[in-house]
Formats: sequence, structure tokens, C-alpha cells
Amino acid sequence: MRTIGNLSDQLGGLRGKAILVRSDLNVPMDGARITDDGRIRASIPTLTRLRDAGARVVVCAHLGRPKGAPDPQYSLAPVGARLAELLQAPVALASDTVGPDARRLVEQAGPGDVVLLENLRFNAGETSKDDAERGAFADQLAQLADGYVSDGFGVVHRKQASVYDVAQRLPHAAGGLVVTEVDVLRKLTVAPQRPYVVVLGGSKVSDKLGVIENLLASADRILIGGGMVFTFLAAQGHEVGASLLERDQLDTVRGYLATAEQRGVEIVLPTDVVAAEAFAADAAHDVVGVDAIPPDRMGLDIGPDSSAAFAAKLKDAATVFWNGPMGVFEMAPYREGTRALAQALLDGNAFTVVGGGDSAAAVRALGFDEDAFGHISTGGGASLEYLEGRTLPGLSVLES
Ligand code: 3PG
Repeated sequence: MRTIGNLSDQLGGLRGKAILVRSDLNVPMDGARITDDGRIRASIPTLTRLRDAGARVVVCAHLGRPKGAPDPQYSLAPVGARLAELLQAPVALASDTVGPDARRLVEQAGPGDVVLLENLRFNAGETSKDDAERGAFADQLAQLADGYVSDGFGVVHRKQASVYDVAQRLPHAAGGLVVTEVDVLRKLTVAPQRPYVVVLGGSKVSDKLGVIENLLASADRILIGGGMVFTFLAAQGHEVGASLLERDQLDTVRGYLATAEQRGVEIVLPTDVVAAEAFAADAAHDVVGVDAIPPDRMGLDIGPDSSAAFAAKLKDAATVFWNGPMGVFEMAPYREGTRALAQALLDGNAFTVVGGGDSAAAVRALGFDEDAFGHISTGGGASLEYLEGRTLPGLSVLES
């Protein structure tokens, strides 16, 4: 992959050049309040590098999933404000993506200045499945700049105009964030230090099918928590009450359990869970064994015995990949499983990669020092698809 240094050589230096940077600034929001700014902070080093080189920096990004037309609730305005604070420099937010305001601000920008285009997904061309429609939007994006830097690792699995098509239209490079993320994830796929232990959580098994299949061929041990565990427990014959259960995945999960056994991959499931009367912080809740989940209760976290067992299974690990919280960590009564897991990872000596927006947000929300972990990925879906061994359009396009 070409680096920013290569791009600078190609363009005869970056001073005064307009560089379009695709960042992933898709942060969790509560109304107009950013609840976790990790992705914005992760975008700063590349933007600073370009500013220091005198580039006119044109940042583009998406927020949420608006339907291809402007929608004020998805405006990047709060993100632009936070970006300006972190850069300690003004960020000029365009009121459109490739329209007159964006063109005017880019023209006016001087060396080191930063322009942020409005949410790319306000334009239907960004996510269109039609190559021509996407291409037309990419043409307009490309007209704004002299070069393109792909730095939004969290979106490289998306074949979208600002991720894929625009790289075919401009001299391009991978930003430092993409280079680092790929280097780290490659360590997990090419000869990981063993034992290699994977911890999977989050709500749905169906989101993780591809990656589980692939991990059954590479991991030594897989610990499973989060909402997805109830489909595993049900596949083993447990009654899971009102817990999240994907009945249509039961056969697939039985297949995984059988494959794991054949290959000698240890699958570790919780033995106790926190079972609540409702999906609410103030619902009545108790710790129960997985063979005693009352019919009207739902499991919202792993229990203390399971946390201790998971910690023991992580003790000798040399490499750990963790994706997905162990419970509904956003609600105080159901966050202890995730907290205990994060602590066990910090207590161990393994090279630890935390992948996925939710697990990264959980680490920060629970007050852990994120620098203490080997690597916290900014990519949720992207890191899972990388580990699945899939070709990611936003990476392969940078090779050409
Ligand atoms: C993410 O949050 O995983 C990325 O920003 C991609 O967002 P998307 O799933 O809406 O494409």
C-alpha cells in the first residue's frame, strides 16, 4: 500500500495541495452529544501530519445511516466541533458534500487549513449499489482535491464512493491509521503467538457467522459471552427463558460446536448469567446458573463464576482478540462481566487486540486506560471481515 510519503513524492510535495481524507468519524451519539470520541481522536495523527506538510485538508466522513438526503439529525456539526477542539485549529464545516459551499470552502482554504464536508451519506451516490451512480459522486469528490488519503479503517469493508471509487480517480495513499490497523490484524492471521484466545460477545450470532467459521481454523480457544451466547446455550439444550435467541441459527451453532470438538478448539461458555425481568437498568435481576434461567427472565450479562472462569482461560494466552461486550454494559447492573473481562486482559501478558466499536467504547466507558491494551481497533465490521479473510474493497483499491 502506498503511504503518505509516496503520495507526497508523486505530487511533488503536499504544500498547497488539496488532499481529500476519508476518515471514519462515525461516533456514537446521544442526540447531539458524542458519547465516545475514540474515532475522532484516532483520526488526528493523519490530519496533523497532512496539516504540518502544508496540505489543504478536506476531511470527508459519514455519521449514522441517513437515507441519501440531508437530514439534520445526522449532521457532522458536533463532530466538526470536537475535531476542532482536538486539532486546536478551526474546522470549516461545509453545508453540503460536493456542492457550492464545499467547493467555496476548499478554494478558500490555505496550507494547513481543514475543511469538513457534510455527511457523505446525505448524497445517495455514496452508498449506491449502482457503479455509475457511485462513480458520478466519486467524480465530484475527486474534483475537490489533488490527492486522496484513505484513513477510515472502520469503513474499508464498504464499497462506497468515498472509500473505493474515489481512490480510482486520484493519486492515493493509505493513512497511518489504516497502515497500523492492517499491520496489527495481520499479526492475528499470520502465525499468531499461541495460545491464541478469542473472546466474542455482542448481541447477534448472525453478525459473526463468517468470523466464527474462520476462527475455528486459527484460534486455540474461543470464549463466548454477550447476547449471542444464548443461542449457543440453547444449542446445547439449555432453556434460555426470555433471553435473546436466534432460533434460525441453532443448527449452524451446533455445527460450530461439532467442528470445534473435531479440531480440538476449546469453546468456553458461561455457567452463570445475570437474569433480569426486563431489558432495563431498574428491572429486578439475579445471578442464576445457565440451567436455571426462569422462563420470564432474560440474561443480560455473564455471571461472576463465568467471569472468573474466563479470566482463568485467559491467563496463559499469548494472543487475544476480543470483539463484543459480555453484557449490556451501558446499564450499570449488567456491566460487571465486561469489566471483569477487560481487567483479566490487562492482568495478562498477551498481545491484546480489542476490535469493534462496542468493545472499544466499553473499555473507555468503564474507565480503563486504553493505552494499556495492545491495540484498540477503530473498526467493528471491518476488523471482523478482515479476520474472516475477506477481500476488503477499501484496501484492495489502494493496492492498484
Ligand atoms: C462502523 O460504524 O462500523 C463504520 O463506521 C461503518 O458504518 P456502517 O456500518 O453504517 O457502514
